[in-house]
Amino acid sequence: MSWEMVDEGWGRRAVEFATLSEPSNCREYVAVHHRVGVTTGEQLLDVACGSGLALELARARGATCAGIDASQRLVAVAQDRNPNCDIRVGDMENLPWDRETFDVVTSFRGIWGTTPAAVDEAHRVLVSGGRLAITVWGNVGKSPGAWMMSPFRWATEEKVQHQADMVGLGFPGVGEAFLDERGFDVAERFEISSVFEYPDPQTYARGMAATGPAYEAIQSIGEQEFIDRATELAATRVRDGLPLRGQIQLFGYIGTKR
Ligand SMILES: C[S@@+](CC[C@H](N)C(=O)[O-])C[C@H]1O[C@@H](n2cnc3c(N)ncnc32)[C@H](O)[C@@H]1O
Repeated sequence: MSWEMVDEGWGRRAVEFATLSEPSNCREYVAVHHRVGVTTGEQLLDVACGSGLALELARARGATCAGIDASQRLVAVAQDRNPNCDIRVGDMENLPWDRETFDVVTSFRGIWGTTPAAVDEAHRVLVSGGRLAITVWGNVGKSPGAWMMSPFRWATEEKVQHQADMVGLGFPGVGEAFLDERGFDVAERFEISSVFEYPDPQTYARGMAATGPAYEAIQSIGEQEFIDRATELAATRVRDGLPLRGQIQLFGYIGTKR
């Protein structure tokens, strides 16, 4: 699929994605920014920045931020949240910045094993000794919160297989080799706290329906059916006085440009 088509899935419920789904990722953003040592005065690029919450948090650490995402409707939210930042609609495999522009490049579940050119581009725009931090899903199916992502499997078999291919970087040694081959010295893989939280089944269903992989399921079964089934699924997980909560295994890699 060409990058220009990405907005069709990721952008169609941009406001719901930004307000219902993305906030759960703040744990991941804070952990990675801390680990990669984002600090005042650094130039940071977030690749596949989505609706820009990670950029807001990097700015809070004093970084000067830029971002890129293929979805124009997510970028509109990211720009609204991060005025005066250089946030562009575009393809992570063809970054519109000069070589050696950034001290840090991050990508939160945006760069996959299926997108090696994005790593080459991150390498090009980093200064020598610059750091690349990426996160990738681990074993989603064996995670305690696996049920929360199971609606993505309501897509066609072919799309579910593609989703599985994308997450291959989570296997031990694979992500390290992927970055090493592309000019990075890689530190040890680390696990990150990744948790989805929703107040009730209806909000869970709306939050999930706003994501790109859910759109692939929606194309198979229709949006109302997706919402109904997801609401029903989450209703079996309600806990008295506590939010719906699911932990999913997530890994991070930090590479330093050689
Ligand atoms: C799993 S989401 C992650 C978004 C964001 N990093 C976050 O933490 O919520 C993947 C993102 O990649 C973007 N994307 C997909 N293909 C892209 C491409 N070729 N270039 C730039 N962004 C792309 C999508 O629009 C989507 O925002």
